[in-house]
Amino acid sequence: MLEVNKLNVFYGKSQALRDVSLRVEEKEIVALVGTNGAGKTTLLNTISGLLHPASGSVEFLGERIDRLAPHRVTQLGICQIPEGRKLFSEMTVRDNLEMGAYSSAAWKRKKETLERVYQLFPVLKERRNQSAKKLSGGERQMVAIGRGLMSSPRLCMFDEPSYGLAPKLFSEVLEVIKQLRGQGITIFLVEQNVRNTLEVADRAYVLENGQIVLEGKGRDLLQNELVKKAYLGL
Ligand SMILES: Nc1ncnc2c1ncn2[C@@H]1O[C@H](COP(=O)(O)OP(=O)(O)OP(=O)(O)O)[C@@H](O)[C@H]1O
Ligand SMILES: [Mg+2]
Repeated sequence: MLEVNKLNVFYGKSQALRDVSLRVEEKEIVALVGTNGAGKTTLLNTISGLLHPASGSVEFLGERIDRLAPHRVTQLGICQIPEGRKLFSEMTVRDNLEMGAYSSAAWKRKKETLERVYQLFPVLKERRNQSAKKLSGGERQMVAIGRGLMSSPRLCMFDEPSYGLAPKLFSEVLEVIKQLRGQGITIFLVEQNVRNTLEVADRAYVLENGQIVLEGKGRDLLQNELVKKAYLGL
């Protein structure tokens, strides 16, 4: 579904991604783990069209997307879910969610998708008329996810959903991610919380200093000596 091939991305003269290649098959949960500054957000921003690579390519469903504008990438069925703090805090929950349906195709389906989001997160239905700033961290994360789903994506990319969440809430987010996959949505999950992430991922990649250094099945990587030492504190 998604194929990233030898991507090189720079900020001015400084190189943030070096020959990064990876693939995500339809209905997989694929994780990318790495510490602060490894280049995780840079990769997501390149896939979603916010950044353009100096070289290399990104293909989605067989089509080159690395020169497209972000709204075109969204229309093709890719959504990027930032951490839950990036909401419009003065707007209501419902208005925040509806912002995710800005393409004309998604706008037409808005009522129906909104109901699906409320089914997934009943608490958001209860709070739909409240301003987003009054929500808890976990509820804000739910709004961020719900807003992404409003574009009816085929591939959902999550940027560190564990950020600022208690472990129990992050486990709940992972349950939601599994549910979304069950509904046929493909997941690309970027995380620093390596243990919980590798437990749910079918396959995973480890990114260090802008380079992929390891890849494998999620459960196999949990047993990998480098991963244990560098990321699990074992
Ligand atoms: N807008 C920018 N301008 C210049 N350098 C940047 C910019 N954004 C990121 N960088 C640099 O690129 C590298 C990768 O950053 P990136 O944000 O992709 O890492 P990350 O893995 O998402 O980290 P974190 O876990 O802290 O979010 C870092 O060295 C960072 O300082
Ligand atoms: Mg980041």
